Amino acid sequence: MGLHQSDALDVERIREEFPILDREVGDGQPLVYLDNGATTQKPDRVIDAIADYYRTYNANVHRGIHQLSQEASIAYEEAHDAVAEFVGADGREEIVFTKNTTEAENLVAYAWGLNELGPGDEVVLTEMEHHASLVTWQQIGEKTGADVKFIPVTDDGRLDMDAAAELVTDDTEMLSVVHVSNTLGTVNPAADLVDLAHDHGAYAFLDGAQAVPTRPVDVNDLGADFYAFSGHKMAGPTGIGVLYGKQELLEEMEPYLYGGDMIRKVTFEETTWNDLPWKFEAGTPNIAQAVGLAEAIEYLEELGMESVQRHEERLAEYALDRMAEFDDIEIYGPTEPTDRGGLVAFNLDGVHAHDLASIMNDHGVAIRAGDHCTQPLHDKLGVAASARASFYVYNTTDEIDALLEAVDDARQLFA
Ligand SMILES: Cc1ncc(COP(=O)(O)O)c(C=O)c1O
Repeated sequence: MGLHQSDALDVERIREEFPILDREVGDGQPLVYLDNGATTQKPDRVIDAIADYYRTYNANVHRGIHQLSQEASIAYEEAHDAVAEFVGADGREEIVFTKNTTEAENLVAYAWGLNELGPGDEVVLTEMEHHASLVTWQQIGEKTGADVKFIPVTDDGRLDMDAAAELVTDDTEMLSVVHVSNTLGTVNPAADLVDLAHDHGAYAFLDGAQAVPTRPVDVNDLGADFYAFSGHKMAGPTGIGVLYGKQELLEEMEPYLYGGDMIRKVTFEETTWNDLPWKFEAGTPNIAQAVGLAEAIEYLEELGMESVQRHEERLAEYALDRMAEFDDIEIYGPTEPTDRGGLVAFNLDGVHAHDLASIMNDHGVAIRAGDHCTQPLHDKLGVAASARASFYVYNTTDEIDALLEAVDDARQLFA
């Protein structure tokens, strides 16, 4: 049992661990930070772990005999072990550190897709994919001649699983699906989708950028071949993301970047590759960020991911209930809280999402406005933009009330 582990999170205590939550914005408004889907805040212990690395054992990894390099190398390698354990991977060989989710998607698209796909092959995505996956596979489709198809989203913001069963065929080589939608909040039936891909001999890639920070994820239980997420959305630093890949697949794949550290032997004629995961981590990696991510993972483990998930669900349910009181608020995504993550995208009649976000800012409330890197989905929803409030472990129902007060202000202003 961890420090805070219990049924409900001790939010008051959690808030004390995040120094930024004490600050004021504008003309003295307390900060209400509801932009966690974009990036979360960091607790002191993550900030301290990074500072401690730079203060006491900063050195390059895997290259030095000296003590500092050994200490840095151990911390860097053990960060892979911490991530592997956190997501249920078999070991550090299956955990490649990248810059973020986007780079993890590109790694697979380039290292696997460019080499393996060709005309007649199909890549199946969903209409709710983030641009990180949508644009990447679209480009790989253009370069290789593979077709890219999209599983439709139903009117209630879920995947049309009947259509999915039709779209995934024996020509499908890759099914890439967002685990939790960053716009609709939908928690997709990831294990079923992985099974569907495997039934047709295709690989399954899950984009877990919004899932790993907010719920327990076990890649082995899900059966995914690849799984990606970002450290900065889970109380860790920017500059580090994770690609999980099944070991046998990563062994077979070509490297994505070439250079130092990813090699075993180099001659003027040829080069052989290092062991996993280093084969995919060319050059000096993000060492401080890896240290920070390992600390963030320890922190989340102490909170307990089941408790984090329940907290997210409670806040989403509260926000959905409060917003449902108003006829002029349109909510996107499932309106009932089942299988829904802790974020709500919405629009207020007659007010552009950017204006709404600006009025929120006057109230000290930080939300996101725009297409949230899901432009085609917004096209389908028939809107150019939406406002999105997204929650994390330190958010409260009072903060959702503050959001609704700001919405009311916008309503008065634009009436
Ligand atoms: C579902 C989803 N996928 C991918 C990404 C891209 O993450 P990053 O910008 O850290 O690469 C995001 C971030 O907004 C996301 O929400």
